[in-house]
Amino acid sequence: MCGIVGYLGPLNPKDVILQGLKKLEYRGYDSAGVAILHHGKAKQVRAPGKLSALEDKLKNETFDGHLGIGHTRWATHGAPTETNAHPHQVDGISLVHNGIIENYQDIRETLIKSGAQILSDTDSELVAHLIAREVKKTKNLYLAVEHILPELRGAFSIVAIWNEAPDEMVAFKDGPPLVVGIGEKQAFVASDVQALLNYTKKFIYLEDREIVSIKGDKIEIFTAQGAPIIKKVTEINWNPEMVEKQGFAHFMLKEIYEQPRSVAAALEPHTNAQTHEVHLKTEGLGSAEFSDLLKKTKRFCIVACGTSFYAAQVAKYLIETLAQVPVDIDVASEFRYRSPVLEKDTLFMTISQSGETADTLAALRLAKEKGLQILSLCNVKNSTIDREAHIKLYMLSGPEIGVASTKAFTSTLTVLSCLSLQWAKSKGTLLKADEKEMVQALLAAPAQLEVVLAYDKYFKETAQKLKNYRGFLYMGRGLSYPIAMEGALKMKELAYLHAEGYAAGEMKHGPLALIDNRMAIVMLCPKDQWYEKTFSNLEEAKARGGEVLALGTGEDENLKRKSHFYLALPKAHWIVNPLLSTIPLQLMAYHLAFQLGYDVDQPRNLAKSVTVE
Ligand code: AGP
Repeated sequence: MCGIVGYLGPLNPKDVILQGLKKLEYRGYDSAGVAILHHGKAKQVRAPGKLSALEDKLKNETFDGHLGIGHTRWATHGAPTETNAHPHQVDGISLVHNGIIENYQDIRETLIKSGAQILSDTDSELVAHLIAREVKKTKNLYLAVEHILPELRGAFSIVAIWNEAPDEMVAFKDGPPLVVGIGEKQAFVASDVQALLNYTKKFIYLEDREIVSIKGDKIEIFTAQGAPIIKKVTEINWNPEMVEKQGFAHFMLKEIYEQPRSVAAALEPHTNAQTHEVHLKTEGLGSAEFSDLLKKTKRFCIVACGTSFYAAQVAKYLIETLAQVPVDIDVASEFRYRSPVLEKDTLFMTISQSGETADTLAALRLAKEKGLQILSLCNVKNSTIDREAHIKLYMLSGPEIGVASTKAFTSTLTVLSCLSLQWAKSKGTLLKADEKEMVQALLAAPAQLEVVLAYDKYFKETAQKLKNYRGFLYMGRGLSYPIAMEGALKMKELAYLHAEGYAAGEMKHGPLALIDNRMAIVMLCPKDQWYEKTFSNLEEAKARGGEVLALGTGEDENLKRKSHFYLALPKAHWIVNPLLSTIPLQLMAYHLAFQLGYDVDQPRNLAKSVTVE
């Protein structure tokens, strides 16, 4: 996720902005830049790569102004190059942006037709063009920003400065977080308070669709329609734990927002972004030896608990489809008590975020006693399961604090997708063209996850309407079936409401009797190979008065017509759909639980790692 810092005041903007951007590095980025006033004009300095590259470029740069903005960019539209780095400058306007402008193609075409010189591949630069064009009419930066907002669709937060107004900064928030820091005769804007704690403890948290005008030592806040708002100033007395939340209300929400980055991190060791090939990297066995092991494995057995088990269900579909290897999956708490038949040529895998789940560890030890090769996928390196496995894979999603697993799950799906592709490649059942297509689709997934995060705002407003249902029936087919199970688990463990995941095709065998207008049907119905059959299951539910919340691909008019609530997912390869469907279900459970007043990070009766049977 991108990081934003803006500063107006007597200190050296270069120091304040760089310090702030360093505090935002955890958000993940691949280029950075600043625009700071010097001799009455904002001087732009940008660099691809880490902040150190930008610092090197800034070493001999001086600025005599007291206004500037800075940005760490996580590439979504356009590669991480200097030209695509923020801030973007157009005719005296400098702008930084976090989020996605969904209608950027239309805006780009309109601007090009009107003769604009578009220098980058980004959606962000287009916003700078719109403001630069508008400020020529308004001669007022705040009004220019307010006037162009209706032209933009998507979730975006921006900060803009203008050479003609050397004491003014204007920011707008809708989606990604933005806070205003208040100091002695100085003011700040940043993605979260973490960036500013060295300078102030007084903050205003912007809500969606709010604009802030910082002019001299005056701070004014308005609605997107220009109505003035009085906002509370929050004094932050952070304890270390709160600092880690980086301005998010809960760890879980922060970890939901980290998923574009954590999915990219999970992909990175196993894929070549230039050649679009998969090369799975494990610890404990070299790539060639692991490929040989996959080739000779006759049966694959995966054991896990809870959310990790639903990921194992996805792996079963992927590996049997792509590599034609039989896959047994089992919840760990059942596995060792059912006298499993385990032959030596079976490859045994555990999936565990914590690497400490007692049942999963016990299953591993049983398989190891029987002489099987043990493959583990963990998030916590050097955890007990990680240490006891022979061959190791990692989720690489960073510490997951919220008890309800989010980013570890999508990282797990990502690594399992790479394992499935590698297995098929090792067995010769994967066409080169299919490998390239699917690796490309996975590499594009982080940007699409950024788009789906916009459902944070949607469920913030919609969750209220979901409170009165007596239960939730999550349904899907194929790869959507395990995601339906995971979505139902999120609702159970966070909102303490009855929720059940089911194979959509199973409805006639019982669940249909459950359905009336107080049972919410959550139907996962992306445009994949199971679409038509899932759609007819949705119609069966609808015909019995069920109220449907459907997830579909793009603006699926047929699906929308049948649904009380419709969530559009970006068009994607079927291998990416499980990642895209997961995020709205996480957000739905999060917001419902929050609005019910429950402890989202520490749900009742649950622990982050179940280290006892
Ligand atoms: C998921 O939200 C829960 N926290 C729980 O089901 C969890 O997935 C399960 O306990 C397994 O944990 P592990 O991945 O650390 O083994």
